[in-house]
Amino acid sequence: MTTRAVVKGIGHYLPERIVPNSEFEAKLDTSDEWIKARSGIERRHFVAEGQTTSDLATRAARAALADAGMQADDLDAIILATSTADLTFPAAATMVQANLGMTRGFAFDVQAVCAGFVFALANANGMILSGQAKRVMVIGAETFSRLMDWSDRSTSVLFGDGAGALILEAQEGSGDNTDRGILSSDLNSDGRHRDLLYVDGGVSTHSTGYLRMQGREVFRHAVEKLAQTAHAALDKVGLTGGDVAWIVPHQANLRIITATAQRMQVPMDRVVVTVQDHGNTSAASIPLALSVGRDRGQIKQGDLIVTEAIGGGLAWGAVVLRW
Ligand code: UT7
Repeated sequence: MTTRAVVKGIGHYLPERIVPNSEFEAKLDTSDEWIKARSGIERRHFVAEGQTTSDLATRAARAALADAGMQADDLDAIILATSTADLTFPAAATMVQANLGMTRGFAFDVQAVCAGFVFALANANGMILSGQAKRVMVIGAETFSRLMDWSDRSTSVLFGDGAGALILEAQEGSGDNTDRGILSSDLNSDGRHRDLLYVDGGVSTHSTGYLRMQGREVFRHAVEKLAQTAHAALDKVGLTGGDVAWIVPHQANLRIITATAQRMQVPMDRVVVTVQDHGNTSAASIPLALSVGRDRGQIKQGDLIVTEAIGGGLAWGAVVLRW
């Protein structure tokens, strides 16, 4: 028998304000056609004034608890993947913990930018396998609209805000790749590429800063590295693209999603795509896509899922799980 971290519930939250591509046409030298053709994005959600990442995360967490039929104090830990925490400290995860009325366990943030949710899932899995925690809420939540330079057409049209949350619970499995739960992960980073995607401010520079990206270069790395990491995670448990029911990719660009699926020899009707509605929500994009994919009736119990993501760092990785 082997301990597995099995999904018990999922939920998401998107802020009310929906911003179509046409809103950018009025302010920038851009067009709906360009944005759709180059990225696949048609609209995105933006937070309201005063709304924070922990607010979005709390709403997604409540939805996941309701889905699992659990109370906050049933959880041992909350791991929140974000690069847009409300404050420099404490961790936004502790704010979610307090908002939920959770009076036990522990909570902390993980920061691996767009790959954050994959890194957080792998961390949660490690804690469950080591016996540190039995039930872990893993959240991805972001307010990237706060990091936009609205005069930069090459970045400001791409990102959105949102949150998704998933609850993992320790269960006994047989130890082979037919088990439900997380089966493997593959994590990577290469700080030599840190200038390709970064925020030009931070605590030490007394500023919040704006997101800066060399899009074409990040694109090149993404197409190469995402299929590699997905294959590496599948290899660890003797599986291939042919075994995959759903790729649930980081939703940055439809062309990257399509190219990765092609390299994995998985047809697009087995890929969950939400980028048209959410834009790039960084660490929130995978849990949002998992939750929307489940709600659409695409993802069902027993399905083999591969999640893969890349972002600032560069940091990238993949998780293989059976729903
Ligand atoms: O989530 C983290 C990881 N991030 C990503 O995965 C993003 C990766 N990169 C991308 O998704 C794509 O590179 C972009 C969508 C950012 C850009 O698409 P691209 O096909 O790589 O375009 P490009 O950067 O090569 O730009 C092509 C042209 C340029 O004009 P010139 O130099 O050819 O005259 C840009 O100035 O498009 C221009 N351009 C725009 N035109 C209209 C850039 N942004 C815009 C815009 N509207 N919003």
